[in-house]
Amino acid sequence: MPSVLLETKNLSFIYPGQPESAPPALAEIDLRVYSGEYVALIGANGSGKTTLLKQFNALLRPTAGEVRVADASTADEKAVPGIRSLCGMIFQNPDNQIVGATVEEDVAFALENRAVAPAEIRRRVAAALALLEISHLAGFPPHLLSGGEKQKVALAGLLAAEPRCLLMDEPTAMLDPAGQAVLLETVHRLNREEGITVIHVTHFPEEAALAGRVLLLDRGRLLKEGPPAAVLTDILLLRRLGLRTTAAGELAFLLREDGFPLSGGILHDRELAEQLCLYAQKN
Ligand SMILES: Nc1ncnc2c1ncn2[C@@H]1O[C@H](COP(=O)(O)OP(=O)(O)OP(=O)(O)O)[C@@H](O)[C@H]1O
Ligand SMILES: [Mg+2]
Repeated sequence: MPSVLLETKNLSFIYPGQPESAPPALAEIDLRVYSGEYVALIGANGSGKTTLLKQFNALLRPTAGEVRVADASTADEKAVPGIRSLCGMIFQNPDNQIVGATVEEDVAFALENRAVAPAEIRRRVAAALALLEISHLAGFPPHLLSGGEKQKVALAGLLAAEPRCLLMDEPTAMLDPAGQAVLLETVHRLNREEGITVIHVTHFPEEAALAGRVLLLDRGRLLKEGPPAAVLTDILLLRRLGLRTTAAGELAFLLREDGFPLSGGILHDRELAEQLCLYAQKN
């Protein structure tokens, strides 16, 4: 049985200054994430995804309830540095996370703060830049980079710090298709081979469909959770929230409405193609 890495107990959060008429950003969330899981976090704009991620590395603390990371409470000030090095986060907007004068310095930043030996820092920085195919930008001032390049620099900094848990807020939103593929493959490989836990906030159903579990937030509440084939096939619920499922899932839903005898739970192009081929062979 894998151990619990992240846990919320009756977590509620209200931003200071939030109008009283507005619902709390997070309301009564009870959640456990196990070590080694890959969890996708989905929901409409303003549903609380970023706020929940920030709770997991103690950037925000509960208004009520508790958040525990590797059995330490985020309310415990002494535990916060440990929590931050365990759970690395990349943000939606890469401009908020640039600190170094060059890309190389930026990627090394978290390591220098943690007194890692200089030779080891150089090795990890070079490896992270190479992995994301941005070694040629090492001496460049990060503020002059494009949005997608900045996001890759932020991700390189996160990977160089070798956290046990990656908190990723729409990490591919600014990347080109090749960059999206590299990032997704890298993160899934780290999850599979190194057992790194991932929480991945995304508006792309194709990305959520690759997770082990999907959490659906609605106005600060955890509305539904389960395997992708359970959450992302609830098309009527997703539509009600202004969301959609994968292209294959949408098409399977329409075909089923038209009387095609397709089984439920289809999310991937390959599954749909196989079922359509079976149908064609039989008729
Ligand atoms: N700094 C803040 N002060 C006050 N209210 C905030 C603040 N940040 C977010 N909120 C409110 O909290 C709610 C949840 O915001 P959050 O950023 O977590 O949503 P999200 O699910 O990440 O949305 P998106 O898909 O647009 O990124 C929203 O209603 C938002 O207006
Ligand atoms: Mg957000």
